[in-house]
Amino acid sequence: MKTVIKNISELIQTENIPRKWVAGKDMSKLSTIKDAFVEYENGIITSFGSMSYWNGIEDWNNTEIIDAEGGMVFPSYCDSHTHLVFAASREGEFVDRINGLSYEEIANRGGGILNSAEKLQNATEDELYESAFSRLNNLIQMGTGAIEIKSGYGLTLDAELKMLRVIKRLKENTEVSIKATFLGAHALPKEYKDNKEGYMNLVIDEMLPQVAEEKLADYVDIFCEKGYFKVEDTIRLLEAASKLGIQAKTHVNQFNSIGGVEASVKLGALSVDHLEEMEEQDFEALKNSDCMPTILPSCSFFLGIPYGPAVKMMEKGLPVALATDYNPGSTPSGNMNFVASLGCIQMKMTPEQVINATTINTAYAMGLEKKLGSICIGKKANLFITKKISSYSYLPYSFGENVIEKVVLNGKIIV
Ligand code: NIG
Ligand code: FE
Repeated sequence: MKTVIKNISELIQTENIPRKWVAGKDMSKLSTIKDAFVEYENGIITSFGSMSYWNGIEDWNNTEIIDAEGGMVFPSYCDSHTHLVFAASREGEFVDRINGLSYEEIANRGGGILNSAEKLQNATEDELYESAFSRLNNLIQMGTGAIEIKSGYGLTLDAELKMLRVIKRLKENTEVSIKATFLGAHALPKEYKDNKEGYMNLVIDEMLPQVAEEKLADYVDIFCEKGYFKVEDTIRLLEAASKLGIQAKTHVNQFNSIGGVEASVKLGALSVDHLEEMEEQDFEALKNSDCMPTILPSCSFFLGIPYGPAVKMMEKGLPVALATDYNPGSTPSGNMNFVASLGCIQMKMTPEQVINATTINTAYAMGLEKKLGSICIGKKANLFITKKISSYSYLPYSFGENVIEKVVLNGKIIV
């Protein structure tokens, strides 16, 4: 049966011809229809337009009608960078930072990623699944309809596989579209403190082939950063993954610009993420590439580090995507509405730019731009209906308020 959502005060991010992404000046453009309807069947959008057109259609007897009552409809957010599966929160480190320690100092004392890895290694697959599933359901209510989830708190073959199997189970049990990323090279485990090469061998020669064999990952990732993994490690891993047909999405330029952007782009990465510290050669590397620069403003907010230079990227004609980075250490929030607000408030992006950066561009950054990221015939009916709001700018403006009234995923209302 067809469903029609009627009486939409403004239908946001409509698209007639599916685009790959939105870049440069085009990021300021947002196509919308006022006083609109959207129709879908079997979870796929079949029509949309103005109410006056829909009122003229005769045959809507066999149709389920949802009244938006003057709310707006947005395509679901696509969150293209998260670490949703973890065993425990880390508010102790949060307090340590308030008392003056830096993120790096905490990591050097065995906190940080290694702290999460120890807890995750001791958790069962069921415990991890239950807690991640509950987090995911909270995110659905905040408008997220597609999410990328990384491993990287396992750091042993067994624990990395355990994380990826949890992500697989999440995929099978939710209406949210999920992509899985293998991030074995997230930090150097204690046992390999003086043997980086040994750990890279483990990741490349043992973990990666097993992950590929069990088809547990859509992408591969590495934390390319001083004190973590070098550009040479990044090149080695990305080349090995590419031979297995696995594309990369990398953590680069969070604290230092060390050449990770250029290496990732050269090796065909789908996205480079973080980008708080960008130098001229990093922008240059991204020009004329197919790689999506992805900024994670809630991480900057939480750690008090610089925000990625979104405006400069757009001035250079590049696309920009914004994702959450949800994880217990640097970003304990998966709220894409807050990301949108930070984009406007802290990064000086306009609401139009922010909406493009959190929908179509993040859909691209997880290989889903043909299926999600806009209101387009043939794409999935993943969307949310807002309360009555005065304009779409109200959404990033009213930071901290939840304006989402109803969520639809694959054409089903999610309660
Ligand atoms: O993206 N930077 C590397 N990884 C995560 C943080 C991981 C953690 O602190 O647990 C990030 O910010
Ligand atoms: Fe991250």
